[in-house]
Amino acid sequence: SPVAAVIPAAGRGVRLGPGIPKALRTLGGTPMLVHAVRAMAASRAVSLVVVVAPPDGTAEVKSILDAHALPGGSPGGGWGRTDVLVVPGGETRQESVRLGLDALPPGYEIVLVHDAARPLVPVDIVDAVVEAVRDGAVAVVPALPLADTVKQVEPAPAGRPEPVVATPDRSRLRAVQTPQGFDRATLIRAHETITDDVTDDASMVERLGEQVVAVPGHEEAFKVTRPLDLILAEAVLARRRL
Ligand code: CTP
Ligand code: MG
Repeated sequence: SPVAAVIPAAGRGVRLGPGIPKALRTLGGTPMLVHAVRAMAASRAVSLVVVVAPPDGTAEVKSILDAHALPGGSPGGGWGRTDVLVVPGGETRQESVRLGLDALPPGYEIVLVHDAARPLVPVDIVDAVVEAVRDGAVAVVPALPLADTVKQVEPAPAGRPEPVVATPDRSRLRAVQTPQGFDRATLIRAHETITDDVTDDASMVERLGEQVVAVPGHEEAFKVTRPLDLILAEAVLARRRL
């Protein structure tokens, strides 16, 4: 079955600081979103990418993508065998993903959801996630062991130290990345059923009681969230271009 990738790219990037929407900030002169679309299109499995743009920036995102598509172009507009659609996003990541899912044509039984803010994910990770869904998992996340010890704390008044209440066993914890891969029907049911605030799509599937599985992620699939992450991303890209 062909695979579609939804790329939520509608966030402002508040933690990165003021300026244009995060997905349009450049890395090595190319918008992060373009890197993310290329990363999905690099997988032979992925034949459609749905980009979820800032609600007031759909036209701008379309023209940026057109400007970076290969000249001559396939019927899909120059992303090799991959078609690219652009739809407007929403107030939250969850809503943006749902709007992307609404735009999916029939026939794509496997759906990836990939943050525009993870522009440098290697194609091997994309392929490994697709393979795990093809092997029968309804939801797959790329994940890495943690470097830091993690503490659970109680909330405290601003400026006061926070009481530590627990230290979960780090060897059983994972930091989760994207693309996350799903059986389409399961992901759509999750988005129709779960209304709680969540930070990823797999946690919605967990709340349905379905089994989510983790496969190895990659250091270069880190999320560009804060200014320091931009410096790291530029360095990773520069090293690739050596
Ligand atoms: N996203 C989205 N729609 C929103 C909010 C976020 O499509 N309303 C997307 C972002 O564009 C990003 C991904 O979800 O690709 C992961 O979110 P995050 O890293 O938190 O990006 P932002 O929400 O833009 O950043 P911040 O939370 O710092 O504002
Ligand atoms: Mg956010």
